[in-house]
Amino acid sequence: MRVFVTGGAGFIGSHTLVQLLRQNAEVTAFDNYSNSSPVALARVKRLAQSDLSSVEGDICNRAALETAMRAAKPDAVIHFAGLKAVGESSEKPLSYYKNNIAGSIALLETMDAVGCRNIVFSSSATVYDPAKAAPFTEEDPLGAVNPYGRTKQFIEEIIRDWAAANSDASAAILRYFNPVGAHVSGDIGEDPVGIPNNLMPFIARVAAGSLPRLQVFGGDYPTSDGTGARDYIHVEDLASAHLAALKYAATVKGCDVFNIGTGRSTTVLEMLHAFEQACGKAIAYRITERRAGDVASSVADVSKAKRILGWQAKYDVADMCQSSWNWQSRNPKGYDNGQ
Ligand code: NAD
Ligand code: UD1
Repeated sequence: MRVFVTGGAGFIGSHTLVQLLRQNAEVTAFDNYSNSSPVALARVKRLAQSDLSSVEGDICNRAALETAMRAAKPDAVIHFAGLKAVGESSEKPLSYYKNNIAGSIALLETMDAVGCRNIVFSSSATVYDPAKAAPFTEEDPLGAVNPYGRTKQFIEEIIRDWAAANSDASAAILRYFNPVGAHVSGDIGEDPVGIPNNLMPFIARVAAGSLPRLQVFGGDYPTSDGTGARDYIHVEDLASAHLAALKYAATVKGCDVFNIGTGRSTTVLEMLHAFEQACGKAIAYRITERRAGDVASSVADVSKAKRILGWQAKYDVADMCQSSWNWQSRNPKGYDNGQ
């Protein structure tokens, strides 16, 4: 199978590429490296002991996309490329709408032009209306509360309309919960620019000594210990969900949407203590004010992915912390370490 992967050099893309190559897929990674490094692709090739084509380009550049896709002749597209920082999306909404929405439209137009009708799209749990109590099922009402989340919600609708207008089209929309962890080798992982916003990379930096302490945002939520609860999913499980979705998209027409999580809830303090076990050190923290826009709890109902895709997560929080610490301690400067 030939697969065209936008955003393939990123955190989730790189892990998915390794699994695709190990399944003998012919892969083209298309990325503008705005939030990633070509070093990730070099490491992917080494890990998979297999080659891939990489094209540096922007999904908003229709001509560049078409040239790359005509050369790749893909059977399917996995669409990871996009901007993803929630805070930044409120400061620069137009960049987010342009990059994510205009880029996705250009991608679908190019797929039409080259006759590729299968897509797997990276959506997010952030599309759900936070007024609804977790766990979320795919039928729950949507109501993203920031520009980033709205780009995902709108792209979902665009893909749904595109699939409805093309009887031979197949689209799988995956709503990721909280992706964390790294490849077991410690060679690829999450490499956020600057001070991380998300919990797991922040904890990893505190453990490594490059940040002084974790601020726990809120200790008075209605959860088991008062701190926010999330459904963390190992990036390797998330990668395998894409392979399952590709298989599905190859056989079923139309558009469907799947939650991708574990269905299990972990609080901030539970995650912190699991990370302490993994790294063998105490991690300093202080409970502070709630972060604006946070919900108490976000957990997936994962029964649909199991029933229809035949996929379910294998890894637990201990695996997530162990692999994340392995990546962090082997690559204190992320991909700046080079090949
Ligand atoms: P990432 O930033 O590591 O990867 C995204 C990749 O897309 C990067 O390599 C970046 O350089 C590339 N890119 C961005 N804009 C581009 C453009 N215009 N043209 C070409 N390439 C472009 O992010 P990730 O964590 O791997 O996320 C992948 C996808 O999953 C994103 O769409 C993200 O919104 C979505 N998602 C991520 C999370 C998460 O927590 N990581 C959760 C839910 C959904
Ligand atoms: C965030 C995004 C969401 C995105 C998801 C991807 C926000 C508001 N939401 O979700 O759109 O899909 O990442 O993974 O940014 N926490 C701390 N201290 C920290 C960092 C986080 O206590 O320094 C807490 C948070 O309050 C939350 C939990 O850790 O309870 C997880 O936070 P985070 O990793 O940022 O993910 P989300 O907020 O769930």
